[in-house]
Amino acid sequence: MIAALPQPRHPLADLVGWDDRVRLMVRPKRYQHVLRVAELACQIACANGIDESRAYAAGILHDIARDLPDAELLRLAPPEHAIDAAHPLALHGRAARTLLERWGYRDPVVLEAVEDHTTGPRGGNPVSACVYVADVSEPGRGVNDDIREMALYDLDAALHRAIASKVTYLQGRGIQVHPRTLQAYYALPLVRVDHGHSTSGSLVSENAPACDSAAPRLSLRRTRPVP
Ligand SMILES: [Fe+2]
Ligand SMILES: [Fe+2]
Repeated sequence: MIAALPQPRHPLADLVGWDDRVRLMVRPKRYQHVLRVAELACQIACANGIDESRAYAAGILHDIARDLPDAELLRLAPPEHAIDAAHPLALHGRAARTLLERWGYRDPVVLEAVEDHTTGPRGGNPVSACVYVADVSEPGRGVNDDIREMALYDLDAALHRAIASKVTYLQGRGIQVHPRTLQAYYALPLVRVDHGHSTSGSLVSENAPACDSAAPRLSLRRTRPVP
């Protein structure tokens, strides 16, 4: 008799118990936000042909370090830049990853999405895009309804709008943009293409093509969008 081969663990299987840990780590209102992000990330993933279970898992886990004190965030995620030391809250994505790894969570796709949810997806990870967009546009925030709706048929465009609007908002007010967010911004295909031809110092060229342009884009989609 042939012994059954061990089956790879389903990402949701790893969530057994994690849900309770998150509930214990964050304030009640935050936990409701977490549930909405997980649900929306799952919907966005489903609509764009992306791994729904990983999107849901990353949504559940993304803010596990959000309510930790600054000193704990700095301990879990030592500052990489001066802005980190000045604003430790921005470290809660990296701190969450450290915490999850220490507690034995192993899915690298989910861990990257958790880490990058504060500053933006840097490497074309489609699960990261789902969680980032869901986090900024979940219904409880009361803003970014346009980004949420767009994400359900064009995640690339929704991600572009979310990151570009953040960068232009901060720059317009003279607020420093986190270097990781700039990295995510420059990784956006429309920005990358446009920046290569831009002669201005602005991050967003006046000549930037519209989101529905035929210019090359990061392909986060694995299947065609739902009609
Ligand atoms: Fe967060
Ligand atoms: Fe969040």
